Amino acid sequence: MVKEEIKRLVEAKGARVGVIGLGYVGLPLAVEFARKGLRAVGFEVDARKAELINQGESYIGDVHSAALAEVVKAERLHATTDFDELSSCDAIIICVPTPLRKTKEPDISYILAAAEQIQKRLRRGQLVILESTTYPGTTDEVLLPMFEEGGLKLDEDFLLAFSPERVDPGNPQFHTDNIPKVVGGCTDDSTEVAAALYGLIVKEVHAVSSARVAEAAKLLENTFRAVNIGMANEMARLCYHLGIDTWEVIRAAATKPFGFMAFYPGPGIGGHCIPLDPHYLSWKARQHGFDSRFIGLAEEVNSRMPEHVATLVTDALNDEQKSLKGSRVLILGVAYKKDIDDVRESPALSIIDRLRAKGAEVVYHDPFVAEVRFDDAHTQGSGEPLHSTELTDEELSAADCAVIVTDHSGLDYDRVCRLSKVIVDTRNALSRDQRKASCAKIVRL
Ligand SMILES: NC(=O)c1ccc[n+]([C@@H]2O[C@H](COP(=O)([O-])OP(=O)(O)OC[C@H]3O[C@@H](n4cnc5c(N)ncnc54)[C@H](O)[C@@H]3O)[C@@H](O)[C@H]2O)c1
Repeated sequence: MVKEEIKRLVEAKGARVGVIGLGYVGLPLAVEFARKGLRAVGFEVDARKAELINQGESYIGDVHSAALAEVVKAERLHATTDFDELSSCDAIIICVPTPLRKTKEPDISYILAAAEQIQKRLRRGQLVILESTTYPGTTDEVLLPMFEEGGLKLDEDFLLAFSPERVDPGNPQFHTDNIPKVVGGCTDDSTEVAAALYGLIVKEVHAVSSARVAEAAKLLENTFRAVNIGMANEMARLCYHLGIDTWEVIRAAATKPFGFMAFYPGPGIGGHCIPLDPHYLSWKARQHGFDSRFIGLAEEVNSRMPEHVATLVTDALNDEQKSLKGSRVLILGVAYKKDIDDVRESPALSIIDRLRAKGAEVVYHDPFVAEVRFDDAHTQGSGEPLHSTELTDEELSAADCAVIVTDHSGLDYDRVCRLSKVIVDTRNALSRDQRKASCAKIVRL
């Protein structure tokens, strides 16, 4: 049986693992397999990334170049743009992007492109696992028929599973090896072998009865976050109208030892996951005539936060007898969350866009992001990139308003408080003492 063949190889750590797509998800995964003594091959369409990996240079914050260089030097990991090497892999894991189309419908074209490369070379004895976040049914409705087209049969010749990735970039506590891994195969054999493979690199594997359950579990996790952040954002806007300190309210509610989990408001949601993944679920729901109303509502509330932040800036300047038009606004942090360099879907871009549209002169400082580019979704600034400005005393004093959009840890908030005239703090980054000591007008979300 093919199950026994692949499992034997896995258990002996003799399986060669191919990872397709070496980004935030794929690179840490490939490195982890290599660190645990397996031979890993990374497949990338971006030749520059493949080259960097082969030189032992990491471009992902959570992967240290020293750890990468060690496994590259030991010949346990190399990257390639040549997909013919897929034939030599016993396990193939797909970690390519799953964006949305402009219509907010799932775009699984990257998964299909990776699957086509596999399909051309699929041979007896291979286990294929999809890790890209996607709607329930992708693995067995889309991938399985593709892989069986050439005559090979699931369970007789190859195995197929889905295992969602839960990596949290920049999280110092949780990494690939200590985040439990959910695994669901298209068949029991697929689940069993995929679970055995991940068991080599993670402490806990949670097997479920199907690929669909695993796909839906991932979407539930991220939809849960989107909905609860939406609730916190709505509460923040309500508290603003009522003149109540939202953060103090949340802190108080969080003292309840059961039945409450704290979520915090912010300038809007960002990154490749939370703003996108719920749409994969609502799209699938629509295919079945089901209207997922929580998802729609959370999207509506969360996507209005950049507009709310722009209003806070306008109102704060107004209180100082200044108009937004012509004012210099310094954005502190453009990454979608603290201590990382990722600006995908970052609310900072929408905030900058809105402020510029109203005639503000916008500059930004972010120690992690040297430059931001604006695509067609952002209408202002004629597509010119913005560059991070140095956070000098002069820059802080020259700004009419400083807006803390991302609460990076390394920023000197004492200096921000000392030199700014007006501060809009969207992350509760300033402590009570810093606020008290500051002469600036401070507005919090
Ligand atoms: N970033 C996260 O925090 C995170 C967390 C959990 C799940 N995910 C999910 O994991 C998947 C990957 O996300 P990511 O953040 O790693 O994306 P990413 O953009 O950082 O990396 C994807 C990589 O795949 C490469 N690629 C694209 N098409 C390819 C192809 N056909 N063959 C080979 N390489 C190809 C790209 O060049 C890129 O390097 C997505 O489905 C995402 O939703 C991401």
